[in-house]
Amino acid sequence: MKVPISLTVNGDTYDLAVDPWRTLAEVLREDLGLTGTKVGCGHGDCGACTVILDGRPVVSCLTMAMDANGRQVLTVEGLAPAGDELHPIQKAFVEGAAIQCGFCTPGMEMSAYALLQANPQPSEEEIRRGLSGNLCRCTGYNKIIEAVNTAAGWMVEGAGGPGGRGTGSSAGEGAGGRGAVPLGNAPGCKDGPADAGEGGA
Ligand code: FES
Ligand code: FES
Repeated sequence: MKVPISLTVNGDTYDLAVDPWRTLAEVLREDLGLTGTKVGCGHGDCGACTVILDGRPVVSCLTMAMDANGRQVLTVEGLAPAGDELHPIQKAFVEGAAIQCGFCTPGMEMSAYALLQANPQPSEEEIRRGLSGNLCRCTGYNKIIEAVNTAAGWMVEGAGGPGGRGTGSSAGEGAGGRGAVPLGNAPGCKDGPADAGEGGA
């Protein structure tokens, strides 16, 4: 039996009927067509599916759609302001060549967004820790870390463009609650950028 839910995604409210076992990632991608959110492992290990739920980063592959009922979701599609302009984080990823295949990129950018909302001027170690729930199999991580650092500088200076259509000011303070699955609790975290050495392009 389907359950009625109401999701506000990137500022738009959707009234949906979903099977109770469907994940937020599935509903975003399949029902709303927001395929920017990627599903890599589907088990909470890789962070590719990261979205912001009520201001906090969660892995949407382990967050049930029902648990997002009545809540605010920010996906990578909502990160940039309207029009062709990129969010400073996206711009820094592009200009810093922090993207190869791009599959991890939306999740990386959402985690970076959460981090910079909570800590606008993070150290390199804090950036690595903030992205430790996101795995990349292409870049070697260093370009990603540099891009987040660049974006932080632009955002603090106000030179990189607006801060996107955020869902709250508490992003990055740690997730959880009401069934949401936080980043950083996944088993793969120890293999993430906090431990990454010198990398490729
Ligand atoms: S797809 Fe959700 S953590 Fe990998
Ligand atoms: S750019 Fe390919 S997985 Fe990160």
